[in-house]
Amino acid sequence: MKVCANCHKPEVVLSARRTKSQWEDTFEKMVARGAKGTDDEFTSAFLYLMTNFGKVNVNRAPADELMQVLGINDEVAAAIIKYRRGKGRIEDVEDLAKVPGIDAKRLEEKREAIAF
Ligand code: HEC
Repeated sequence: MKVCANCHKPEVVLSARRTKSQWEDTFEKMVARGAKGTDDEFTSAFLYLMTNFGKVNVNRAPADELMQVLGINDEVAAAIIKYRRGKGRIEDVEDLAKVPGIDAKRLEEKREAIAF
């Protein structure tokens, strides 16, 4: 709220989920427009948005992004990467649910955050 809600309503910021690189681009644009804050404030805002309004491609993202956006631990992230390597491609949520150790209920909650 402090870093991103001075110039526009939070709804503008939260209108769409974004991937890590999309959020990075948005932050750069906003800093160019005059957004001000300490490094810590920008980092907290960034992590908040990644956690709650992030989007992640489960076929391409590195482990840290999978963990951040899906709220999973490093073991499950590693299992996703192993599964997609072995299989070539994760097709959909049903396919993703087959990854060993994954929590199907959590996947349902995060459905909007998952791209293939
Ligand atoms: C200094 C003023 C200012 C601050 C602070 C600011 N913005 Fe913006 N933002 C703008 C302006 C002006 C627009 C509308 C122009 C546009 O859409 O490019 C905008 C539009 C947006 C949009 C919609 C357009 C798009 O690029 O998708 C998003 C999302 C956004 N801001 C996110 C953020 C985030 C995240 C932060 C905090 C890091 C932030 N803004 C802080 C000025 C600001």
